[in-house]
Amino acid sequence: MALNRDLIVQPVIENIRAASSYLAAGRLVVMPTETVYGLAADAFNPLAVSRIFEAKQRPAFDPLICHISNEEMLERTVSSVSKPVLRLIREFWPGPLTVVLEKSTAVPNIVSSGLPTVAVRMPSHPVALKLIETFGGPLAAPSANMFGRLSPTRPEHTLRLEGDVASILDGGQCSVGVESTIVRYHAGKLYILRPGGITIEKLQRVGGIETCLAENAAIPNAPGQLPSHYAPHAPVIIINPDDPVPTQPERSCFLGFTSIRREVPFLRQETLAPDGDLHCAAANLFEALHRLDDCSPEFIIVESVPETGLGHAIMNRLRKSAAPRTS
Ligand code: TXA
Ligand code: MG
Repeated sequence: MALNRDLIVQPVIENIRAASSYLAAGRLVVMPTETVYGLAADAFNPLAVSRIFEAKQRPAFDPLICHISNEEMLERTVSSVSKPVLRLIREFWPGPLTVVLEKSTAVPNIVSSGLPTVAVRMPSHPVALKLIETFGGPLAAPSANMFGRLSPTRPEHTLRLEGDVASILDGGQCSVGVESTIVRYHAGKLYILRPGGITIEKLQRVGGIETCLAENAAIPNAPGQLPSHYAPHAPVIIINPDDPVPTQPERSCFLGFTSIRREVPFLRQETLAPDGDLHCAAANLFEALHRLDDCSPEFIIVESVPETGLGHAIMNRLRKSAAPRTS
């Protein structure tokens, strides 16, 4: 059963304090971040973290990201930080960058799926920072959706969760709209395990080190990154802006990059970014897919976006949402 709308509360200090005490009692809270909404639990409480896996029906091999609000929490979560990673976090935190580091003994195995490493980020959303600070320790939080489904960028999207959630803090629409970029520094190179809110171009500029996509490299990849992910209920078909429509439009929806196809009688159509701004496209991506999926179309046809800047993260999410599904 989906969650009750009454769980959504304004992020005033009393509600943040209440959310923090639910977390201390081992319960789950939905928190806004600048990327997507997260389903948070006390990262150092294995029983609380197990409830995240249960609520999302997430496989145990898919490790979680720990969210922190200050450097002292980083010290409690990881055993050391290399110089290049320190440079990156000084530049991009708080913000949509996740770094994978050797974990400290405080991090339970359920958080890291048994790996010796842990993923950490400091979000920039003021409500997330306030909640973590009030709670006083790292919060493990995956995106607040059922495993494999569309990510939530508004509080209403998280009502599709099915577990026992104590509170949903309303932080409005997520400004970035795609998940954080996940990186790992290994043997002199920076590997991008998942493209996201911080672009590869920006990482290269600041890091001053060789940066490569992990897909093409011999490094333990980001586990849990299955081919099918971020999937609406309707199957997704990606086409290029010049391609003709491949299916019966009357029963399908269309998501154009800069414009709709006025001449085609789709059930519903939307554009990601009329001015071609990729930040705007990323911020609208999941929200538009949620809206189109709510029309129960036969297919959602999506136009590809240029693969520069945030376009990498957008196309990564679109390809996974269009990939063949196992269930
Ligand atoms: O923007 C975000 O990152 C959002 C918000 C809520 O912060 N969170 C998010 O979490 O996207 P999630 O659970 O959907 O994705 C976490 C991914 C895992 O699927 C895995 O690929 C990677 O992070 N990951 C976690 N721990 C790792 C580790 N030790 N080594 C490599 N990859 C890891
Ligand atoms: Mg996710």
